[in-house]
Amino acid sequence: MKIGTPKEVFEGERRVAMTPDSALQLQKLGHECLIESGAGAASGFDDASYAAAGVEVVKTAAALWKAADVVAKVRAPDDAEMKKLREGQTLISFFSPVGDEAKMQAAAKKGATVVAMEMIPRISRAQKMDALSSMANIAGYRSVIEAGNNFGRFFTGQITAAGKVPPAKVLVIGAGVAGLAAIGTSTSLGAITLAFDVRPEVAEQVESMGAQFVYLDFKEEQQDGAATGGYASVSSPEFREAQLAKFRELAPDVDIVICTALIPNREAPELWTEDMVAAMKPGSVIVDLAAEKGGNCKQTVMDEKIVTDNGVTIIGYTDFPSRMGTQASTLYSTNIRHLLTDLTPAKDGVINHNMEDDVIRGATIAHASEVTFPPPPPKVAAIAAAPKKPAAKELTPEEKRAAEVAAFKAQTKNQVILLGVGGALLLAIGLVAPTSFMQHFIVFVLSVFIGFQVIWGVAHSLHTPLMAVTNAISSIIILGALMQIGSGSALVVILAALAVFMCGINIFGGFLVTRRMLAMFQKS
Ligand code: NAI
Repeated sequence: MKIGTPKEVFEGERRVAMTPDSALQLQKLGHECLIESGAGAASGFDDASYAAAGVEVVKTAAALWKAADVVAKVRAPDDAEMKKLREGQTLISFFSPVGDEAKMQAAAKKGATVVAMEMIPRISRAQKMDALSSMANIAGYRSVIEAGNNFGRFFTGQITAAGKVPPAKVLVIGAGVAGLAAIGTSTSLGAITLAFDVRPEVAEQVESMGAQFVYLDFKEEQQDGAATGGYASVSSPEFREAQLAKFRELAPDVDIVICTALIPNREAPELWTEDMVAAMKPGSVIVDLAAEKGGNCKQTVMDEKIVTDNGVTIIGYTDFPSRMGTQASTLYSTNIRHLLTDLTPAKDGVINHNMEDDVIRGATIAHASEVTFPPPPPKVAAIAAAPKKPAAKELTPEEKRAAEVAAFKAQTKNQVILLGVGGALLLAIGLVAPTSFMQHFIVFVLSVFIGFQVIWGVAHSLHTPLMAVTNAISSIIILGALMQIGSGSALVVILAALAVFMCGINIFGGFLVTRRMLAMFQKS
């Protein structure tokens, strides 16, 4: 099939849906690739680099739409592009099926298939195609860079000959994809970073990135993530009040606020109120990523940067991914490439639009002359949805005590049986074995027992440090084995050689695994 990418017509859009690299991958699936001349220029990919990757460069958009079986683009088609969409053609792009219902109907009526990139379900298997996440990741990163650009101070604290500089304080509201990217960027620039989200399960993620989670003195049951597609549910008015009170307390102290809080298909909740803006220090910056949905701060002006009377800069740009065109195009074209890989299962250049597939079905909004939006809920649970454990029955103090006594009795019984069997075995061996053997044997049995008891209770998360300790033990065993390996007895030599071999695996394997683990935490 011919996969074609036109130049984006939306003013100021720098992204492109196909890069020379993604085109190479698409060709491996058996497809031919076409690009409109100049489509990649704003992202740093010129026509020559496409031609070198085997892509046919087409002069006009009209020629491209005519020739391509599949059109892959970034922004939803405008009216002129909708006219070019034809029967049997597949369009892959952002589409906004709710906002652009008329266009969706028109596409279905024409007999075209439309795959809306924002409709890719948030399930593990589809992460590689999730363009909303890849773009939000860029937006989160860029929001901090943009804030830094408008903030008159360092992020990191410094002690210099010219004076002491305190670190900047950054508050990130909403720790979803964009929020986490903002947290990562802010902490790596050295700012004190605070973060808040209504989903308490993200606290651990936030803290593991070096930021502080803002806890509220309030308990609220969040809806199961599966019911909301892995997103947050709406919070109660009481929770919101507690949240706003906390923000009010933080407002005079924070220098930068990055707002990313949103529940899909809803207006952005107002979380940074006018009085909080007024309480901020002059020179502070607010970047409101939710500007497109009304903003978490209602003073935000969409697509603009304003400065309030008290000197607070509020940035409401909605084109952060486009501002990093090269990076955004690379990630977006990779999302498209992965989607086309799923659409071309036989890698023979033939699209198989399998509506039984959760991901393809979820993202397809028009197919076979019908509107196929909204899709049925995916069969697989959303990523954020952790399976709920059935609630344990509340026990009375007497019942609790009785359960503890029963568990203790069962444990003691097991231990007595084990001791009895062990003692009988030792006695039996002692009757026939020489005294010198028995001395070593008893030490051996005791060390196995103690070692087992100690290691069995270690939490999984501590297995890596534990491995370092076993490495040390293995080294002692290897020394013992090396001393015995020259013995006259064949049995002893074999046992010593085995000990050297197994301890060798333990030591070198341990080093390799530890190295890998450490590499995960090293900055490249
Ligand atoms: P997401 O759904 O992954 O994250 C949103 C987070 O907000 C979730 O963790 C949710 O629990 C949290 N949240 C919801 N209500 C909240 C509340 N009342 N208080 C605190 N936290 C709350 O969304 P993602 O992908 O991170 O996007 C975040 C925002 O960034 C969206 O508004 C999106 O439209 C926007 N965005 C903006 C771009 C731009 O150029 N300005 C580009 C890409 C995304």
